[in-house]
Amino acid sequence: MKSTFQTIEGTSDLLPGAPKALVRTEVWHHIERGIHEIMRRHGFSEIRTPILEHTGLIARGIGQLTDIVSKEMYTFERGNTNYVLRPELTAPIMRSYLQHHLEQQPGVQRLYYLGACFRAERPQKGRYRQFHQFGAEIIGTEDPRADAEIIAVMMEVYRALGLLETRLRINTLGSAETRPQYREALVRYLEPHRETLTGVSQDRLSRNPLRILDTKVEAERKILKEAPRLYAYLDEESRRNYEALKRVLASIAIPYLEDPMLVRGLDYYTRTAFELEHDGIGAQSALAGGGRYDLLAPAIGAKKPVPAVGFAAGMERLILAMEGSGLPLPESDPFDVWMIALGDAAGEKAFIFVQSLRRAGLRAGLELTGRSMKAQMRLANRAGSRWVVILGEKELETEQAIVKDMVTGEQIAVPFMGLTQNLTEKLK
Ligand code: HAM
Repeated sequence: MKSTFQTIEGTSDLLPGAPKALVRTEVWHHIERGIHEIMRRHGFSEIRTPILEHTGLIARGIGQLTDIVSKEMYTFERGNTNYVLRPELTAPIMRSYLQHHLEQQPGVQRLYYLGACFRAERPQKGRYRQFHQFGAEIIGTEDPRADAEIIAVMMEVYRALGLLETRLRINTLGSAETRPQYREALVRYLEPHRETLTGVSQDRLSRNPLRILDTKVEAERKILKEAPRLYAYLDEESRRNYEALKRVLASIAIPYLEDPMLVRGLDYYTRTAFELEHDGIGAQSALAGGGRYDLLAPAIGAKKPVPAVGFAAGMERLILAMEGSGLPLPESDPFDVWMIALGDAAGEKAFIFVQSLRRAGLRAGLELTGRSMKAQMRLANRAGSRWVVILGEKELETEQAIVKDMVTGEQIAVPFMGLTQNLTEKLK
């Protein structure tokens, strides 16, 4: 059977027991549980914001000149309002922080999230139009320990899930005051090479020259080797912060690589910027990225800066990386008990038992289409059930069910009266 419609390019259905780990619901549950647990341990609380936001929030927050805002947003108009399907969650979370006056809460805010994001990119392995991020933000402090804490909680999620071969690159982007000077110096240096640059970089040279720094084009990398370094233009405080961040990371044994060419695709960053990479997820090596964004709040209307730092990571890239590293991923969620009923009367009785087992806390299953014993046994096997309970006419008469241990193959008769208790105790 086939419908006229298929999923939209760059989006996917998640299905229980799907052969591909990337779209298997059980794998997502496994990873989501891990994320919730690590976040809880680190003292982060979950925030959920709407998928729809005002386009202005994203455009002003992320920056008009970024690829995301200039080419990748899904927007639509209704009445006089322009809506966007969120391409990320940091600007929405800062909006929420300001809207609900979270600055009035005592201490810093440690918030984490999981959710769907949308970017109109060219789909390929590790890059989708609807993808899912998890991430965390610490809002309310300039302390570089917050930057280190964000990096630490990010790394811990991967470590807890068994993904150890990651590479952390860090950089500082300096302050909003010093960056224009660096920008000028970079443009001055690159201008004589304009003809050698790719079309994309030529365009960036006039609009967003810092983005040229993270080019993957070898010829451009060569040119950039001699380019002025942002580090030379840093203000005293940014420099001190960067040194402090490196010290704190070293003190908690988090290895990092300093990369003066690291720039991010969103305009709201100042000072700390970082990315976590993994080989083996195709052209998209970035598992996660983030940094400090003290000026995002004023960009979206706050009267003054709100110090904040965070990271976001792609769920799909995490799954691809885990799969690529050969880490075990759950196949399906096995049943505790599967009821097999033969005949209508047994079917009704079995239904009552199944509900009672479920209320008692067991994962219990039952086929509803009245198939043969053999077909039902096949389903019980597929469900990976630990126990199978068989009810036929004879069992109804004797008021005893047959309970089969699917590991040993052993069968015993258990009186109806004590059936739920018997199975609950077996599975304790
Ligand atoms: P981002 O680098 O744009 O940062 O995205 C973070 C992560 O989302 C990427 O490293 C990647 O794993 C995943 N990702 C991005 N686009 C796609 C896509 N089209 N398909 C699949 N995965 C994708 C941010 O979004 C910032 N909000 C991070 C942040 C949080 N900065 C401060 N706080």
